[in-house]
Amino acid sequence: MDTSRIPGFYNMTVQERLEVLSRLHGLQDEDIENLIIDSSLDVGTADKMIENVIGTFELPLGLGLNFLINGKEYVIPMAIEEASVVASASHIAKIVRNAGGFTTESTERVMIGQIQVVGCSDFILAKEEILQNKSVLLEAANNAYPSIVSRGGGAEDLDVRILNEGSDSVYSQMLIIYLYINTCDAMGANMINTMVESIAPLVEEITKGKVYLRILSNYADRCLAKAHCVISPELLQTGDFSGEEVRDGVIHAYQFAASDPYRAVTHNKGIMNGIDPIVIATGNDWRAVEAGAHAYAARNGQYSSMTNWFKDENGNLVGELELPMSVGTVGGATRVHPLAKFSLDLLGVKSAKELAEVIVAVGLAQNLGALKALATDGIQKGHMALHSRSVAIAAGATGEMIDIIAQELIKEKQIRVGKAKELVEQYKK
Ligand code: MEV
Repeated sequence: MDTSRIPGFYNMTVQERLEVLSRLHGLQDEDIENLIIDSSLDVGTADKMIENVIGTFELPLGLGLNFLINGKEYVIPMAIEEASVVASASHIAKIVRNAGGFTTESTERVMIGQIQVVGCSDFILAKEEILQNKSVLLEAANNAYPSIVSRGGGAEDLDVRILNEGSDSVYSQMLIIYLYINTCDAMGANMINTMVESIAPLVEEITKGKVYLRILSNYADRCLAKAHCVISPELLQTGDFSGEEVRDGVIHAYQFAASDPYRAVTHNKGIMNGIDPIVIATGNDWRAVEAGAHAYAARNGQYSSMTNWFKDENGNLVGELELPMSVGTVGGATRVHPLAKFSLDLLGVKSAKELAEVIVAVGLAQNLGALKALATDGIQKGHMALHSRSVAIAAGATGEMIDIIAQELIKEKQIRVGKAKELVEQYKK
């Protein structure tokens, strides 16, 4: 997309929005059919994806607008049932683009597979033997999934830890092998599980122990993505609140989440409000991303804020978000679900790394949207404004009438379809 700025998009009908997208993105007839025909995922495909299928389940798909990330325009597909999330992300993205946009970075995409070995007569010796046989084990793992090696990835390294060495219970003494695998553009669950399962017999031979679990770890802390933004206070001014007041309110709100797990959970839920919808829309495993993100938020021993907000020496508000981001642009449902494929094309991401970075930028925007609202008017005002618009639309308002009726509903403190219908009738006269 040449631009992610589409003024007035929220006021258009779905049909008008699709026309705009066709112009900007060159939508195919098939995409339009997938977007607006009730079931974009046909039941035959769904039946091959999971078991006991009886149908498909839809969510609204909206577009987060205005995103400028590393100087590139992104339109963000967001699948979510909650009102206000898409509007809030787009509102903050507009502020941040005026501040120069988000910048992002990420680590190599190294995922982790774990093998649990129990019953070794000498755990220290078993650990040494595994380390001595590292290259044999890595080669065996790569032989089990040669296609990833030809794509430039594969098992790259391994590590071993002994857990509960001095314990009296044989159940808790174990040796864990951590296999580090570069999964390139795939999330890699199948690849990782295939590799750890395939080398388990060799591990038993080397350690003289017994292998139980062979599974990936969703704590993908070697696959991190980070977003950053710097916003001058005048861009934050809102209603009666000065930009400095908003900035300070956001930093106080962050400090609350940084110090209190009860607040941190809600604060982080708000971040996942931005992250999950794009993870879902692109056909990725949002439970894996959720699990990894929350674990990372507790990496220092106390569950805390995923983001960090502070004031720099020039008085700007600075925000950062770093999270494990085990998403892919190939494999899984990313190319099976027609709308996942569409969403990836619309985003225009060239790699899983780029997708991961876009996702954390959206999470950072979402957090700022929530904190800015909470530290000023509270979130209900915005929610009510949006709700009143949907009520106005449900009552038959169109075009410029929508905002006029919505404002009247709020003024009269009667956000009901009945009242909205009366106002629509009056307006038409
Ligand atoms: C609601 O879905 C999300 C918020 O509760 C997040 C937050 O409190 O930071 C508004």
